[in-house]
Amino acid sequence: MDKLLIRGGTPLNGTINVSGAKNAALPILAGALLSAEPVIVRNVPQLKDVATTITLLQSMGVEVTFDDKLNVELDASNVTQRRAPYELVKTMRASILVLGPLVARFGEAAVSLPGGCAIGARPVNLHVEGLEAMGAHVVVENGFILARADRLAGAHIVFDTVTVTGTENLMMAAALADGETLLENAAREPEVIDLARFLTSMGANISGAGTSTIRIVGVDRLGGADHTVLPDRIEAGTYLVGAAMTGGKVRLNRASPQTLEAVIVKLQEAGARIVTGEDSIEIDMGGRRPVSVDIRTTPYPGFPTDMQAQFCAMNAVAEGVGTITETIFENRFQHVLELQRMGADIRIEGHTAVCRGVDKLTAAPVMATDLRASAGLVLAGLAAEGDTLVDRIYHVDRGYERIEEKLRQLGADIKRVPN
Ligand code: EPZ
Repeated sequence: MDKLLIRGGTPLNGTINVSGAKNAALPILAGALLSAEPVIVRNVPQLKDVATTITLLQSMGVEVTFDDKLNVELDASNVTQRRAPYELVKTMRASILVLGPLVARFGEAAVSLPGGCAIGARPVNLHVEGLEAMGAHVVVENGFILARADRLAGAHIVFDTVTVTGTENLMMAAALADGETLLENAAREPEVIDLARFLTSMGANISGAGTSTIRIVGVDRLGGADHTVLPDRIEAGTYLVGAAMTGGKVRLNRASPQTLEAVIVKLQEAGARIVTGEDSIEIDMGGRRPVSVDIRTTPYPGFPTDMQAQFCAMNAVAEGVGTITETIFENRFQHVLELQRMGADIRIEGHTAVCRGVDKLTAAPVMATDLRASAGLVLAGLAAEGDTLVDRIYHVDRGYERIEEKLRQLGADIKRVPN
């Protein structure tokens, strides 16, 4: 397993491009199953999770071709398999996103239960209950979700909990259902809006995406599309935190500042000077040490849980005491145990991490446990004194395109070392 070797202490300075959003690309690629006509998806990030999704779609009979500019063409005119096997689903929970499109277009699906992961149990009951409300017959046996429906019917669905992929799965299912579907207490994430834009360009009738009430009037069939994926707000936020932790000055191009407002406000609270343009974000820390901030993760437009580990790392080296409360997932403080090995003074009280900033973290061999925890550890390594070795960085590669290249572009002393 590859590792990342990071020599800390250099401020991040320079300019990089933000990649396309992983959490928009995954549902959009799955959405290609909804049409018999080819679709083109542009600005697709080169990530492990994207490769896994494409392998899954190809195993179903979807023809996938790439060009050399991150554009992918998908042709789902000859889907022979309506099944997502455990071998693939266990490596990427977001495979659940093929469930809605398969039932909507083909009336059947067999999707392995994703199972939990490091950050929590990650149930998919709301996905299943929503499909049942739309008339699907669903049984769960031998670890598979088996769903069938002659034709889904529109329904009025109120989510008990805000669920991003639950909203996306049922929005896709409703696009081909008979009649009108109302999704209430729906997720408002920018990635949900991007998926809605993609589906609408295929001919879907969707209104309200980005609000907590989404209305979908089903149509009989969907056509082709040519869609460009929006910038990845979490990747962007991660590099902004890296600049804040190392006292640097970084400019992000191809970014979407309007999707990062909660994060930008917190970075400004931490003492960063931030200037945003139409598609750029520039952060200048001016060599200053960040000031601790209090964070409470909530669904969008609140502070994103996917930025929690990164802010833990920042608070670990900031001036003062900052509290970080995680309200979305029940076990998303794995990175804290590793940060403590680097000298961080963080104590966990229930769902809250109380972080007292230290002057310097000390390098140590650490282990990544999940995607965003590993990002937090990389950032900690950039700020620490000495050489930090981050193990199990396959977690990082799932969600960050060429992370060591982009960090080297910003002046970091980082390299990928084989086991
Ligand atoms: C999406 O996961 C993202 N993944 C996650 O990003 C992100 O952390 C999460 O939303 C929250 O923003 C993708 O978009 C591919 P949820 P998702 O359903 O949809 C509970 C990353 O790092 N819940 O919004 O799986 C659930 O347990 C990843 O890129 C149910 O109880 O998350 C959690 O407590 C990590 N039943 C809460 O809802 C359900 O049926 C929010 O989960 C579904 C969810």
